[in-house]
Amino acid sequence: MLHVKWNITQTPEEAGRLAADLFEAQIHAKPACVIGLATGSTPLPLYRELIARNAAGTLDFSRVRTANLDEYQGLAPDHPQSYRRFMQENLFDHINIRPENTIVPDGLAADIPAMCASYERQIEDWGGVDLQLLGIGHDGHIGFNEPCGEFPVHTHRIELTEMTRSANKRFFASLDEVPSAAISMGIGTVMAARKIVMIVTGADKAEILAEAFFGPVVPSVPASILQLHPDVTVICDAAAASRLPR
Ligand code: GLP
Repeated sequence: MLHVKWNITQTPEEAGRLAADLFEAQIHAKPACVIGLATGSTPLPLYRELIARNAAGTLDFSRVRTANLDEYQGLAPDHPQSYRRFMQENLFDHINIRPENTIVPDGLAADIPAMCASYERQIEDWGGVDLQLLGIGHDGHIGFNEPCGEFPVHTHRIELTEMTRSANKRFFASLDEVPSAAISMGIGTVMAARKIVMIVTGADKAEILAEAFFGPVVPSVPASILQLHPDVTVICDAAAASRLPR
């Protein structure tokens, strides 16, 4: 726990800028680094900042490789709510990253175990993840690793909980349209990253943030495993930090 580095900002935008500083340091130190990426609302200020720095010429993605945490099962890459499309629209289409250097699990794979194994292999072939970005779900999920009886190790298919489906329904026309399953990197995949940066913003995440980092390490709160990682930085705004112990 002592090794978790905490950065508390006033606003989500400031959290995005701080996270962008860490991305920039990583990319400058190793231009061909491998970055694990996340979707959701939380990373949007970070992505806007990365786009601005790329446009300003201070951040070069030409050699960067990225692997996304997860994808909905059953959504095609160009589906408006697919995570592949989210990444294109909110980051990849606006920076000088090579399309072949970005991977997202294939939501349409016919052979899911084979696709999951090849996803893991691709990350390994790239030399492993240098910097993994994470958000957190209200139930403590990271990627789409939902609360369960044991920590899933590798990339796998998972049934989404009703809490997650209803939290994500704001992006869909109705709850019925939210897929009921997803493909996600495993907890082992995430924990193998050399450095982890988690961004948490908003009062609605305050309780789960405190539970994840100051409660017991249990698979019913998947993010709690991060207490055991040697290099985690949490960037949160004051609202999300409001339930942390002093
Ligand atoms: C989804 C994603 C997660 C993300 C979480 C929180 O379930 N699979 O990777 O961290 O939502 O999203 P938000 O940042 O919108 O609260």
